[in-house]
Amino acid sequence: MILVTGGAGFIGSNFILDWFAGDPEPVVNLDLLTYAGNVENLAALADEPGYRFMRGSIGDSALVAGLLATHQPRAVVNFAAESHVDRSIHGPGTFIETNVLGTFRLLEAVRGYWAGLPEPQRQTFRFLHVSTDEVYGSLSATDPAFSETNRYEPNSPYSASKAASDHLVRAWHHTYGLPVLTTNCSNNYGPYHFPEKLIPLMIVNALAGKPLPVYGDGLQIRDWLYVRDHASAIRRVLAAGRPGEVYNVGGRSERTNLAIVHTVCGLLDARRPRRDGTSYTSLITHVTDRPGHDRRYAIDCHKIESELGWTPAETFETGIEKTVQWYLDHPEWVARVQSGAYREWIEQQYGAG
Ligand code: NAD
Ligand code: TYD
Repeated sequence: MILVTGGAGFIGSNFILDWFAGDPEPVVNLDLLTYAGNVENLAALADEPGYRFMRGSIGDSALVAGLLATHQPRAVVNFAAESHVDRSIHGPGTFIETNVLGTFRLLEAVRGYWAGLPEPQRQTFRFLHVSTDEVYGSLSATDPAFSETNRYEPNSPYSASKAASDHLVRAWHHTYGLPVLTTNCSNNYGPYHFPEKLIPLMIVNALAGKPLPVYGDGLQIRDWLYVRDHASAIRRVLAAGRPGEVYNVGGRSERTNLAIVHTVCGLLDARRPRRDGTSYTSLITHVTDRPGHDRRYAIDCHKIESELGWTPAETFETGIEKTVQWYLDHPEWVARVQSGAYREWIEQQYGAG
């Protein structure tokens, strides 16, 4: 079996759903269920005998050690993190706590477990750390895309905390021999994306007739990847990646934020036209820019393509259509994550912890 951490978040839950669509190998999902964790994302697995959920923190060394000893995973895939740049600007402390100290404690628990494994399990064990392209900093319009050898130049508390976690993972390989893999992926989008990030926020606000807040001039560029393609990349790296190596993952889909918002509005205009006949683009509102806002991210994913044969299944055009349609089809999911009803249920079900 494998242990997934942070598997109730956006990417982790898509990864687990994707996993069980093709593979019966059991998964234990350890997630603290912060505001971003949502067990409802995994409701489809209620009758899946191979799926187990455990609420708890990657920073709880005794809990993680116990889980490892009980379930004897062949791999750990670490998604657990604080992930929103804007939140990291307002409150960096939890980012250091979870992304830096949490990863450190997780690595130590995993190292203890791995050191006690008999051969050949010790050889085949993997710790896969899911990270971001934001650790590389910001590109100008003409810079080449980020490759795995780019120097780290993180600019936000979020990206600095992820960069620190990547360094710890690297050091645990070089110093202790822990068989680690690191993936640095570009911006994801797709189903179950919490509506604080650009694409789901624009969809949800547009449908509610609220302003679509575009930071600054809206000409910042991100490289977008459909979340299920990120899931397939992680599976591929887990299966065939070389221990100690880093793999950049991206969709070769650079778009300005304004282009993204216009695309979302165009899809909504066609599928859910406004009663007054105006376009959703009339809701676009330029607001004060994010402090320290990175101008451009772009991923060179040549290594994972050539070495591991991975390519994304979706283009941006097919992926964004699926995404907008998913939000149109799941208003109850949006209403529940927005209303707090979901959080109340979590407290009832799992306690305040
Ligand atoms: P998310 O915020 O949606 O989910 C994070 C999950 O981690 C939540 O379920 C949360 O409850 C859980 N969590 C937080 N603290 C925890 C702790 N101490 N112990 C256990 N669980 C904890 O984030 P996401 O967008 O799904 O991102 C997942 C990972 O992928 C992160 O490491 C992030 O840095 C990375 N990443 C994200 C993107 C993106 O575009 N969203 C791109 C590249 C990499
Ligand atoms: P976001 O989804 O927060 O991801 P990240 O900051 O990790 O790239 O933001 C994507 C881009 O969209 C980023 O350039 C900031 C911008 N943005 C807005 O213009 N308005 C918004 O309301 C949000 C949330 C983001």
